[in-house]
Amino acid sequence: MRIDVLTLFPDWFAGPLDASLLGRARSSGILDVRPHDLRRWATDRHRTVDDLPFGGGAGMLLKPEPFFAAVEALYGSVENRPRTVVLTPSGQRLTQRLVQALAGEPALLLLCGRYEGIDERVHAALATDEVSVGDYVLAGGEVAAAVVIEAVARLLPGVMGNDSSAHEESFADGLLEYPQYTRPAEFRGMSVPDILRSGDHGRVAAWRRDQAVERTRTGRPDLYRAWRERHGAPRSD
Ligand code: ADE
Repeated sequence: MRIDVLTLFPDWFAGPLDASLLGRARSSGILDVRPHDLRRWATDRHRTVDDLPFGGGAGMLLKPEPFFAAVEALYGSVENRPRTVVLTPSGQRLTQRLVQALAGEPALLLLCGRYEGIDERVHAALATDEVSVGDYVLAGGEVAAAVVIEAVARLLPGVMGNDSSAHEESFADGLLEYPQYTRPAEFRGMSVPDILRSGDHGRVAAWRRDQAVERTRTGRPDLYRAWRERHGAPRSD
């Protein structure tokens, strides 16, 4: 999958993209991430990409022209662009469901805002999706873009050693993950539940399911309610 990123800070991506899973996905050719400096498509001598908001107000906005010029340079035309995600705290919250949908695309374009945001015409004419990574405000879209890239990359075939592990864990079926343990069986007075050492796969699976349900019920009542509704369980919580 090819992912182009338009940003004022292309160098910021070097660290996150080189490490571990993303680094391997890129060197094996499964993932091709290309951060582009938006200033490349600024037209004036000072390479200006921001300006004051019409109507007044604090801060600066990113201008529309460099975004449109960049899209035309990268894809030939606006119509030819791939699924285009603007990272913004006003967007739809990123979920595993959306990550799965994005992972099914042949290519993505991620647009990172800075300052007070991006001119509305970029949202209106270029964005196919507006995505937030949570209800808090970051200094720009770069960290959010890295979140999208990592979540999408690990679903691409061949990126995770064991393809099933990408789907088995939290959120794949709407529940938080059950607790897991490795050796030693006893550590500083804390022991691994006997059932996990019993060798009884049926009881292990049932225990894990119960733990996942209970964790979700207490930690994420919103997810729990949605899971209950999907599974048609009677409402009694
Ligand atoms: N840019 C600034 N804050 C953001 C957020 N929470 N999600 C996505 N992009 C952002």
